[in-house]
Amino acid sequence: MPYPLYRPRRLRESPLLRKMVRETTLHASDLMLPLFVVHGRGVREPIASMPGQSRLSIDELLKECKDAASMGIPAVLLFGLPKDKDPRGSEAYAEDGIIQQAVRAVKDTIPDLLVVTDVCLCEYTSHGHCGVVEKGRVVNDPSLELIARTALSHVDAGADLVAPSDMMDGRVAAIREALDEATYVETPIMAYSAKYASAFYGPFREAADSTPQFGDRRSYQMDPANGAEALREVALDVDEGADIVMVKPALPYLDVIARVRADFGLPVAAYSVSGEYAMIRAAGQLGWLDEERAMMEVLLGIKRAGADIVITYFAKDAARLLEQGRA
Ligand code: PBG
Repeated sequence: MPYPLYRPRRLRESPLLRKMVRETTLHASDLMLPLFVVHGRGVREPIASMPGQSRLSIDELLKECKDAASMGIPAVLLFGLPKDKDPRGSEAYAEDGIIQQAVRAVKDTIPDLLVVTDVCLCEYTSHGHCGVVEKGRVVNDPSLELIARTALSHVDAGADLVAPSDMMDGRVAAIREALDEATYVETPIMAYSAKYASAFYGPFREAADSTPQFGDRRSYQMDPANGAEALREVALDVDEGADIVMVKPALPYLDVIARVRADFGLPVAAYSVSGEYAMIRAAGQLGWLDEERAMMEVLLGIKRAGADIVITYFAKDAARLLEQGRA
């Protein structure tokens, strides 16, 4: 129907009508909040490159989790900073590791909140890579055993979901096998399936102290130029038993989110990473952007692209606005 018969502005005049024809809505229940856990007590150490985010000891983490749950955020995603690092990332799979302790504490105190754990070695290894290093290379198959062990130890501690972010080939199958053998057949895996080698992880690496000590992650994370390859990665993870697939980062990869949504019947998560958060916060602090509006527009855009779950450091800010009916 051409103009002047069809006038799109007819539906835009009234705020009520705009609301009724709105195609996408963001809810607090779409959001997952990432949090950083450290050893100690009473620690709430601000992360300079992520204003508003802190490294939290377990007692402080519990406050944050209670807050999130009371705002209707269903899940947190936990990252740990170990006491010591070594070449094989031992604390990643230690029974009394920081994440294992944190998971137990959160599940004991706030049983209604889903606890998701990031499964990776990079925060725990002295070289800062996501797998085992031999002769200066990150070797795939020897890494799988440690990654599966890490996931199993998280579930032993009570994690509701595990989320492998290492990008080793075959890790979803290795984790599924380890969980099934331990009779955790019901525990889902949320795979970081299309994870790109991105500059937008910069603030996170400061927060988690996980910058690689040599080289970079391009031998295991994806080339930002590739879209079809993302679909192959997702297909592999689905075959290996992934229950939820993830695209990460979100904002520069909305096309990938949309393609994964269209091609697979599985729930899709999108991780709006530390650099996406820092960008909006920084521009907001400088007065260059309306921070609240930019935040909501980005989160809504990620959902419109096809994400069911949006992982974002803005989860509490967004949930607050939604609660107040201001977004
Ligand atoms: C661990 C991991 C990273 C992020 C999530 N899991 C860092 C990396 O791959 O270097 C990044 C998250 C963010 O930037 O918010 N492998």
